[in-house]
Amino acid sequence: MKALVLSGGAGTRLRPITHTYAKQLVPVANRPVLFYGLEAIAEAGITEVGVVVGGNGDEIRAAVGDGSRFGVRVTYLPQERPLGLAHAVLVARDFLGEEPFVMYLGDNFLVGGITGLVEGFAASRSDAHVLLTRVGDPSAFGVAELDGRGAVVRLEEKPERPRSDLALVGVYLFGPAVHRAVRAVRPSHRGELEITDAIQWLIDNGHDVRSTTVSGYWKDTGNVDDMLEVNRTVLESLTPGVAGEVDEASELVGRVRIERGARVSGSRIVGPAVIGSGTWIRDSYVGPFTSVAEDCRITTSEIEFSIVLRDSRLSGVRRVHSSLIGRSVTLTAAPRPPDAHRFVLGDHSEVQIPT
Ligand code: DAU
Repeated sequence: MKALVLSGGAGTRLRPITHTYAKQLVPVANRPVLFYGLEAIAEAGITEVGVVVGGNGDEIRAAVGDGSRFGVRVTYLPQERPLGLAHAVLVARDFLGEEPFVMYLGDNFLVGGITGLVEGFAASRSDAHVLLTRVGDPSAFGVAELDGRGAVVRLEEKPERPRSDLALVGVYLFGPAVHRAVRAVRPSHRGELEITDAIQWLIDNGHDVRSTTVSGYWKDTGNVDDMLEVNRTVLESLTPGVAGEVDEASELVGRVRIERGARVSGSRIVGPAVIGSGTWIRDSYVGPFTSVAEDCRITTSEIEFSIVLRDSRLSGVRRVHSSLIGRSVTLTAAPRPPDAHRFVLGDHSEVQIPT
């Protein structure tokens, strides 16, 4: 069994962060979301991993390396343009050969791992196995329709009028028949070769396509709210600990992890929260469900339920909530009147101010 991890694509819904950053590398509890998927693959006993990369390939390569730290061997598979999930399987044809494989979307987050699924699929010898979960907004996903016996009869990608609330989760299991399917499908209305259409082709051509409906925790981290939600979930099971320095005037409450080289002074940190290495927190409040990455400076500020990427500065800002702050961002109080907001925002930035 091999694994195919998709880490190309554009990430338009996480702009402006993804103008300069691969969306699979946005951190959850200070570790790239992609790493959780690679760990789940390794845990399932798979060692040969193909990683499909696009424009942000160099960054993905730098973060993942040869895969040895996850216990896998990574082969990078460049995809010229994000032409669709089925196109990524075409790109991986030689790497995959005739072996069955698990396809894992690099921006998906699945709690509980994939070990049971992989073992079940290897034993079943079916041609494809999809994971489904009930969602409130099915038109944002691939949607499955099941017959009375629970067999998949129809799949549709982001339908305007969904026939069910069962969304396709971004983890799929395939046998070699999928290679014929991805060659047979034509681009969809959004111009992509859809894996959803390839699976429909398998069904229409009499192949054995099975499904499992999962009720555990799953998120596509494609947008900011989902990203914050995944961060919240991971922080809830954070292992607390202080490897950095915390002065006597500071208070840590609940599950808080202070990484090596981080410094906290005159501050209150209410967990679950993680403070990255080299970050200084001074005279500030960091509230629950917050991850601050490496080398940040937070001074006389208040922040909660947020993710701050590395090398950013917050000074005199009250109060930041539900925010995703990129790398090397500066957020400060105005040094002199007028008492007004002043912004230098990148393309596709989003700001909400109190009225
Ligand atoms: O998250 C689950 C959903 O993922 C499914 O319900 C949908 O059926 C499936 O089509 C997919 O929808 P998305 O619109 O969310 O896919 P997205 O374009 O975000 O791409 C998913 C991952 O695959 C992401 O890590 C980027 C990568 N990718 C995407 C494309 C289109 C590639 O590596 N190459 C590509 O050509």
